[in-house]
Amino acid sequence: MRKRKLATRVENIMPFQVMAVLARAKELAAQGEDVIHLEIGEPDFVAPEAVGLAGERAINQGHTGYTSATGLPELKAAISGYYQSRYGATVSPERIIVTPGASGALLLMSSLMVNEGEEVVMPDPCYPCNRHFLVQVGAKAKLVETEATNGFEMDLHGLSDVWQENTAGLWLASPSNPTGAVLSRDYITTAWDKVQQLGGHLLVDEIYQGLVYEGEDFSALSISDDIFVVNSFSKYFAMTGWRLGWLVVPEWAVGGATKLAQNLFISAPTVSQHAAVRAFSEDVLAECEERRQTLNKRRVTLLEGLSDIGLPVVAPAHGAFYVYVDVSSVTNDAMAWCLSLLEKEKVALTPGADFGVKDANRYVRFAYTCDEDRLREALGRIAHFIASK
Ligand SMILES: Cc1ncc(COP(=O)(O)O)c(C=O)c1O
Repeated sequence: MRKRKLATRVENIMPFQVMAVLARAKELAAQGEDVIHLEIGEPDFVAPEAVGLAGERAINQGHTGYTSATGLPELKAAISGYYQSRYGATVSPERIIVTPGASGALLLMSSLMVNEGEEVVMPDPCYPCNRHFLVQVGAKAKLVETEATNGFEMDLHGLSDVWQENTAGLWLASPSNPTGAVLSRDYITTAWDKVQQLGGHLLVDEIYQGLVYEGEDFSALSISDDIFVVNSFSKYFAMTGWRLGWLVVPEWAVGGATKLAQNLFISAPTVSQHAAVRAFSEDVLAECEERRQTLNKRRVTLLEGLSDIGLPVVAPAHGAFYVYVDVSSVTNDAMAWCLSLLEKEKVALTPGADFGVKDANRYVRFAYTCDEDRLREALGRIAHFIASK
C-alpha cells in the first residue's frame, strides 16, 4: 500500500535551534541543576491581577461562546481608544481584527498580502516564524542583510534593488526580536514612501510596543492609515498564554480580512477578550509602566555587564527585552557555544541561527527575562566559561 507523506511545505519549515538548548536545559533542571534561562522570549511577569480577575468574571458570567470574527466590540473600542490616547493615532474600531495572538494576526496577514509564488522583503535577522507564515501560503521571505554597525536596520536605499516583479511588500518589526532595535519615525516614513513608489504593502509588527527605553515609542498607524500593523497582549501586558493579539488593516481591506478571519479562526479566545478590555485601565497601564522600568534596569545591567566581560554590544538595543550579542571573539560556532555554555555553566541562550542566515554563527540572543541578581550571576558564569576555555 502506498504510504502518503506529509505536505512538502513541512520540509521548508526549519525547526528552532533553541529547542535543542531548551530540551537540554530541562534535563539539567530535572537533575537538580540551577539553570539560568535567558533563552525564552516571554516576560517573567504574570498577567496583571486585574486582568486575571476580569477573565474569571467572564467565565462566571458564562462568556464562553464565540465572539464575532473580528472581535468583541468593547475590546476593539478599547484598543482604538488606546491608539488615540497613547499614540495620537486615529484608528476606527472597524479596522481592528482581534486574533489568536500576534501569530494569528501574522498568519492572517500573510493570507491577506501575498499570492503564491510571491516574496516579502524583511531584514536578516528577524523573527523566524515570519518566513514560515509565508511558506504556509506558498510564498517566501526575501531576507536582506543588515549590519550591527548600522543598528541592524535594512538599508532603504537598496530596497528598489531587491524589489522584483513578484515582491508583495516589506515586513518590518519595531522594536525588533532578536536585536531589540527600535526604528525611528523617519525610518518608517521613508520605508512607507519607498514601498508606495514600488507598489507594495508595508507591514509593521509592533508586538513589543510600549517596551521602548530610548527613542520614540510610536505607532506606524500615526504615519499612514494604509500601513498594516500587528500587535499583541503577549509582551507589554505579559499575557502570552491568553493567546490574544490584533491586526489593524486599512479601511479598504476590512472586508477581505473579516472573510479570512471568519474562516481561519471563527473568533479569538472569548474569555481572553473580555479580560483584555481591563488591560487598558489606568491602574493596569501603571503596573505595565513599572514593569517597563524594571526591564530597563535589567537592560542597563546586562549591557554594562556584557561590556565588562569583553562582549560589548555595538547596535543600540533600545526596546523589547532582547540583546543580540556578537560572540565571534570567543567562538566561530554560536550554536556549539550555547550548548557548551549550558553544559558547563548552566546558562541558556538562543543561537543566532534561529533568526537569520548572515552572521548567524556569530550571534546569540539574550532575553533579560529574569531579575538583576540572576542576570549578574549569569554574567559571572559566562565570564568564567570564557576564561576557562
Ligand atoms: C516579533 C514577534 N512577532 C510575533 C510574535 C508572536 O507572539 P504572540 O503570538 O504570542 O502574540 C513574537 C513572539 O515572540 C515575536 O517576537
